[in-house]
Amino acid sequence: MQKIIVTGGCGYIGSHTTVALQNAGYNVVIFDNLANSRIDTLDRIAEITGTRPDFEHVDCTDTNAIQNAFAKNSDAIGVIHFAALKAVGESVQKPIEYYKNNLISLLNILEQMSAFDIKNIVFSSSATVYGTPDTLPVTEQTPLQPATSPYGQTKVMAETIIRDAVAANSNLRAVLLRYFNPIGAHPSGKIGELPNGVPNNLMPYITQVAAGIREKLNIFGNDYETRDGFCIRDYIDVNDLADAHVAAMRYMEQMQNGTAIFNLGTGRGLSVMELVNAFEHATGVKIKYEITSRRPGDVPAIWACADLAKEKLGWVAKTDLSDTMKSAWRWQQNISEK
Ligand code: NAD
Ligand code: UD1
Repeated sequence: MQKIIVTGGCGYIGSHTTVALQNAGYNVVIFDNLANSRIDTLDRIAEITGTRPDFEHVDCTDTNAIQNAFAKNSDAIGVIHFAALKAVGESVQKPIEYYKNNLISLLNILEQMSAFDIKNIVFSSSATVYGTPDTLPVTEQTPLQPATSPYGQTKVMAETIIRDAVAANSNLRAVLLRYFNPIGAHPSGKIGELPNGVPNNLMPYITQVAAGIREKLNIFGNDYETRDGFCIRDYIDVNDLADAHVAAMRYMEQMQNGTAIFNLGTGRGLSVMELVNAFEHATGVKIKYEITSRRPGDVPAIWACADLAKEKLGWVAKTDLSDTMKSAWRWQQNISEK
């Protein structure tokens, strides 16, 4: 069985990707410091797939610890690097922590991959690198814009670091995946997103209002120049996103050396109100909301052209929106019971 190192594998996207990798026949070892996740995720993954992934409790910024973890897993064929801090607002308050965590982690991973001759890296990038795009949908050729937060800047810098590392090492191959807005949970309701405190993101806020944890959803602005006045995003089911990582791993096995970049989205934009309506329709639960002022820094509209991923990876987002809403709600109900 081919082994893959998944950093941040106890987190939201990493746990779903671990399930997808195991189901595709890979042997997964997770490196995680549990800064934003829980150890029982490993048991929950085992309940879904029948296999508990191997686990190294390690901080990717700790050079010695990472070296030891790689030494134990030097037979891995690749690394999927999720481990990062991801709260945009917090990154503005704590820029040093974000640059240190997200960039030192990446540098340590690249250094050890080189030391142990591990050739393939998949990196979690973000649509945030496009800033406010001039044209829609965005393709991988759409020019990047200056990042609006230290978090976003770590993604821009990480992409550059990886490209430079690949250019200098003919043994290295990289796939940079630019995620749009991941939502939903595993259909089993056993794994999902664990927001820390008051959610910043729309989907967990909606499910917390549905569960009675929050009184109402504040919708940030209805005066945008969009079809209904609300912001538009490309919401992608996390299970589809997970499948794209399996496709990327397979692609890299036959890819020439170099760096490939793929947008991961549905290719369809939905407004905030359309998402609220979809949730209500799929679950039968009404969402109380209030329209408030715009949130500073919000892009009016962005959605992906995901044609390149379809062409090269053979991947398309296929989950029905109503199934995504139901899985998000099932997960919320499971964690609310605890
Ligand atoms: P998450 O916080 O749920 O998962 C990240 C995991 O990495 C956590 O388990 C955390 O404990 C771990 N981690 C963080 N720093 C670490 C370190 N120094 N050493 C070891 N482990 C560490 O986040 P997620 O939503 O699953 O995001 C995964 C990746 O995808 C991140 O790189 C994120 O920036 C990127 N991304 C996420 C989104 C999104 O909306 N969720 C969008 C675009 C990109
Ligand atoms: C945000 C980040 C982005 C990051 C992504 C991760 C910002 C500016 N951008 O994207 O860098 O990669 O999360 O998922 O923070 N909304 C409400 N009420 C809420 C929450 C959100 O109306 O309580 C609206 C927002 O105005 C936005 C949409 O819902 O139009 C989606 O917001 P969110 O889920 O936070 O994602 P992004 O802002 O797209």
